Amino acid sequence: MARIVYVNGRYAPWGEAQVHAEDRGFQFGDAVYEVCEVRGGRLIDETRHMDRLARSLGELKITDPMSRGAWARVMREVIRRNRVVDGSVYLQVSRGARPRDFLFSNADMTPTVVCIARHVNVTRRDASAKGIAVKSMPDIRWGRCDIKTVMLLPSSLAKEAANAIGAKEALMIDSDGFVTEGASSNAWIIDDKGRLITRPASNDILRGITRTTLIDLLKKEGLELVERKFTLAEAKAAREVFITSATSIVTPVTRIDDTPIGNGAPGLTASRLRELFHTVAERAAA
Ligand code: PDD
Repeated sequence: MARIVYVNGRYAPWGEAQVHAEDRGFQFGDAVYEVCEVRGGRLIDETRHMDRLARSLGELKITDPMSRGAWARVMREVIRRNRVVDGSVYLQVSRGARPRDFLFSNADMTPTVVCIARHVNVTRRDASAKGIAVKSMPDIRWGRCDIKTVMLLPSSLAKEAANAIGAKEALMIDSDGFVTEGASSNAWIIDDKGRLITRPASNDILRGITRTTLIDLLKKEGLELVERKFTLAEAKAAREVFITSATSIVTPVTRIDDTPIGNGAPGLTASRLRELFHTVAERAAA
């Protein structure tokens, strides 16, 4: 449980960390967020996460409420006050609060800013190295999944459905039968020639920071990357399947619905990439 939360310039005890009832994030989902891994007390790939936050804000024309330096200070202060060594930092910026109105263009809005640091149960995180089951679900999200908005209800419902059958993640399937991504992760397969296949970054998926950093690692390892769409049937027949995100790093998928992947054990390549990931990721100064 996070004990101290940053809200609009104040470090508040968790129970007092409040946002206005007419915040547009609450009423319209008019807010963006980031989740950055904390490992050994350091932020992982902070620069790329902050670049993506700036892009999300820019796409929605929400004013960036803080300079890069101020963001860096707030994140470190929240990590420090909560004594987080291994976990994550969550940032959220909404357009702000005002009497409910679909239109916002004429309003002078002050963005609402929240920053939360959380511990991760390292044992539980490392258990996912043994592989997870995923459940396929129709992708019913909107047309701008490239923007990291808080409109996460379809993802939340999909994860609930997955959880109900003992799966840890939902695999989102578009109307043509292609995998878009996980509900909160990017999806990858490895074919019988050892090629790593992932959907090209477009409006259909979030361009994951873990995905981008993993591509750096693949180049270093001399592994072949193919950015193309793949179907659910292809994923079920793949040699390996894995997902990536700031919180799951590289996690092997051992079952999709009722189908075991390969021999049902975590893939060797995915496991190796998981081990090597932090050798290429940027480790920020504390
Ligand atoms: N989710 N795709 C979606 C839809 C996501 O929500 C996420 C991250 C990713 C992976 O992005 P990254 O590698 O930058 O974490 C892909 C975060 C972890 C979350 O919502 O908690």
